[in-house]
Amino acid sequence: MALMVRVNGSPRRNSRTSVLIDAVGDAIAAELTLQNARIDFSSVGPEILSALVRDRLSPEGERAVQLAECADLLIVGTPVYRASYSGILKHFFDMVDKDVMRGRIAVLVATGGTPLHGLMLEHQLRPLMAFFSMHTVPTTLYAVESDISDGRIVSPAIVERVNRAAREAVAMLLGRQGDPDAYGGNSMRRRHNRPTSFDEEARRLPG
Ligand SMILES: Cc1cc2nc3c(=O)[nH]c(=O)nc-3n(C[C@H](O)[C@H](O)[C@H](O)COP(=O)(O)O)c2cc1C
Repeated sequence: MALMVRVNGSPRRNSRTSVLIDAVGDAIAAELTLQNARIDFSSVGPEILSALVRDRLSPEGERAVQLAECADLLIVGTPVYRASYSGILKHFFDMVDKDVMRGRIAVLVATGGTPLHGLMLEHQLRPLMAFFSMHTVPTTLYAVESDISDGRIVSPAIVERVNRAAREAVAMLLGRQGDPDAYGGNSMRRRHNRPTSFDEEARRLPG
């Protein structure tokens, strides 16, 4: 069974970024039978930051890095800090083996204080995933503080983007079924064998 790992680069416990991460993660999990795991820097962050190099990581920090290395699908989320992704997220990925992530799929998620910094996802986070030869889902998710209230997304446009990103991630995962060379090939099963909302939408397309 495929493994989906939600990585939240925020050190905050009541993180707005986690709301977006969970919205897309839950939408994907509603379509596919997956194993679910999460890496929250609000808890494991001190373990990651206390090591400058991987062989100095605590067992808990090492487990978190290995979890990311085992993922078929990563949802990588971060708050915008100083117009970039958070430093701890970068430090975490500096520990990840550069050769093992090829072909994995990533959904890119961020929250910030200003809409002006939404392109950080395209200019900085997508290239970081490209360094690892990972495939990134085309639709990225970015929200500002007013888009999230009481732990819920209140912007219909962002809800629509969440659903679109989830459909794209599901399509990319299912596209690997039967391809023995693709990472995660044959490991996905559709829940109850029912069509996904992506299939239903595809049937409505002309031609
Ligand atoms: C140290 C720091 C730097 C920040 N820098 C930016 C920034 O450059 N651009 C921006 O849009 N928001 C910035 N913010 C705001 C956060 O990105 C925003 O509040 C985000 O939603 C917090 O996410 P979280 O609740 O998941 O931690 C910054 C916040 C902090 C604490």
